[in-house]
Amino acid sequence: MKAIINTDASNTISKIDNRIYGSFIEQLGRAVYTGIYQPAHPEADEEGFRKDVIRAVKSLHVPLIRYPGGNFLSQYKWEDGIGPKDQRPTRLDIAWRELETNQFGLHEFMHWSKKVGAVPNMAVNLGTRGIQEAADLVEYCNFPSGTKLSDLRVKNGDPKPFAIKTWCLGNEMDGPWEIGTKTASEYAHLANETAKAMKQVDDSIELVACGSSSLDNPTFGTWEETVLDECYDNVDYLSLHRYYGYYGDDDPTELDNFLAKNEDLDQFISGVVAMCDAVQARKRSSKQINLSFDEWNVWYHSNDADNKIKPWQVGHHLLEDVYNFEDALLVGSLLMTLLKHADRVKIACLAQLVNVIAPIMTDTDGGVWLQSIYYPFMQMATYGHGVVLNSSVDVPTYNSRQFKNVPLMDSVTIYNKDANELIVFAENKSQHENADLSINPTSFDIDHVIEATQFYGYDVKADNRDGKMAIRPLASVELTGENISAKLEPLSWNMIRMAVK
Ligand code: AHR
Repeated sequence: MKAIINTDASNTISKIDNRIYGSFIEQLGRAVYTGIYQPAHPEADEEGFRKDVIRAVKSLHVPLIRYPGGNFLSQYKWEDGIGPKDQRPTRLDIAWRELETNQFGLHEFMHWSKKVGAVPNMAVNLGTRGIQEAADLVEYCNFPSGTKLSDLRVKNGDPKPFAIKTWCLGNEMDGPWEIGTKTASEYAHLANETAKAMKQVDDSIELVACGSSSLDNPTFGTWEETVLDECYDNVDYLSLHRYYGYYGDDDPTELDNFLAKNEDLDQFISGVVAMCDAVQARKRSSKQINLSFDEWNVWYHSNDADNKIKPWQVGHHLLEDVYNFEDALLVGSLLMTLLKHADRVKIACLAQLVNVIAPIMTDTDGGVWLQSIYYPFMQMATYGHGVVLNSSVDVPTYNSRQFKNVPLMDSVTIYNKDANELIVFAENKSQHENADLSINPTSFDIDHVIEATQFYGYDVKADNRDGKMAIRPLASVELTGENISAKLEPLSWNMIRMAVK
């Protein structure tokens, strides 16, 4: 199959907001306890954080981390997680039916996120709590000192304000599973009043309102409209959540359909953008609402195991999906789809980061291992910076059971002006054919190929528990005159970085 990418410096989608490579830590399962925090582990630092996990998270280059949930958030009291550890209460986490010891809380998260080089995306509980508790949390975190709550932060060891910029107004408040689910109008009113109060405390913050927690929720559409109608002036982003897998009647051998699921993500984003813009037009507003896709991933492998878990333990093995090679290919395509909407998707969070539906796993008594999905995410988060080009791509398409006209090769091209690099990420979804790729970098004078790699050659159902998966060189890349060519193997993830003269 022939695949031609024509790029042009003047035809761009948008500059990438690096927060599109964000991730998520929820106080759930082993994300925190025996994940990022394990004081008795030989790799623990002076604060009890695992240094091997810190190294792995740093290698993924996530710039923003959402915290503390998730469903956990909607019943959480942030005050339980501050102050001397021996005085913190153990509570029932009624969202996930775990025991929460609160040995890891707000200050620990802030210290840990600094160590991994990420900024926080903090969330306030609008399930069981409301305006006052949210405003109090902003005061505790961001007010310099001289008030009861800011002085308490100082007393608890952090004299400098945390200066948290981005905040989520609750989590999945449309979901029937959520503690404190609300109707669209109940949520809209509460979110708007909470937003006003939080911005009264600190007007430099930006706020994310809950959109639909899934495209499948029956309230999708009316929820967005109702929430934005009321909150438009006081919020900055609308959230989206979406997970993929073989669900319901899906046939687990239907690979062509599975690999095309990024088309669903594309439609979801376009639909929500249209709704934001419809409200903007109706309000005759000059303000644009952007999107925070603050939960996305593959999630289905662990569902059966999770149903068998005994409740009320600390750090259950919950949501521990073991990802295979086809999941990595889908994650690559999902992330490319987010980038193709970089004009509106400013924040996105791979859900989640450690142990819980995560690219990074820990052995309680041993080390760290990396899942298949780590690799495409790591490459894009490391090198995918700059401007997304609106390339025209000439490639054959296919039809699967759910999706029509799916490109057999999915790709995204990025120009990084600071590094003077053109970067192509390309995934060959064909199960049998090579993609003979030709890149015509119109208006870019390519000096040489810096690096070309491929992630390929594994059984689609193989996982990386044995640590054998790796990114390898893509030897077939050639620069001839103005043209770059490469042979992309069937079912492969590829990256080509080119130096521009
Ligand atoms: O990421 C796992 C869960 O998925 C989160 O707690 C919730 O927000 C979503 O339903």
